[in-house]
Amino acid sequence: MSDLNITIAPETPNDAVAIERLHERTFGPGRYVLSAYRLREHVDHLLDLSFTARIGTLLVGSVRQLPIAVGEVPALLLGPLTVEPPFRSRSVGRALLDRAIAEAKAQGHGLILLVGDEPYYSRVGFKKLPRGRVTMPGPVDPNRMLALELVEGAAAELAGTVRPDWRFARAS
Ligand SMILES: CC(C)(COP(=O)(O)OP(=O)(O)OC[C@H]1O[C@@H](n2cnc3c(N)ncnc32)[C@H](O)[C@@H]1OP(=O)(O)O)[C@@H](O)C(=O)NCCC(=O)NCCS
Repeated sequence: MSDLNITIAPETPNDAVAIERLHERTFGPGRYVLSAYRLREHVDHLLDLSFTARIGTLLVGSVRQLPIAVGEVPALLLGPLTVEPPFRSRSVGRALLDRAIAEAKAQGHGLILLVGDEPYYSRVGFKKLPRGRVTMPGPVDPNRMLALELVEGAAAELAGTVRPDWRFARAS
């Protein structure tokens, strides 16, 4: 349980600058070559499925979810999940994850994928995908490809490369 008085809320356009600064501090300039960022060149994360964590007015964490597809199977790509270092290990990350998952389920999504550490994300039910079945559009350690089925069997037939869900493509 957290001893912090955290407020979790859907992201708004006004949060963009503070979240970008948090990502810069956490992942550095190299973040743009990460596979997940390549997908973000084509589609924006969904604001109503992305969340901020605040203590008072101070932004202390963020999670985003992006509309993707593998073959013809639509899914969400969760990430980045980031918490300000002084506020880590106080369940802020867990609260953001719980909310993102609950909201995705409530909106009828069947599947969430992410690239991350299985020991952390298994706490909320993510499992490793069978090796080689799903690839990212760039180099990713296959052990870090994780999935959470919100609808039973949603990952069963999954195979192919993760691509943006073009229904959400950004107008350019
Ligand atoms: C990962 C991160 C979001 C967790 O946020 P948090 O608010 O500290 O998470 P919680 O408080 O809910 O959980 C903390 C617990 O998870 C553990 N944990 C954190 N990162 C972990 C990891 N990569 N692998 C395994 N366990 C991890 C902590 O040791 C802690 O364990 P404890 O409960 O036994 O003390 C945060 O550490 C962070 O921003 N890290 C840098 C960015 C990052 O790596 N993001 C994930 C990209 S996929």
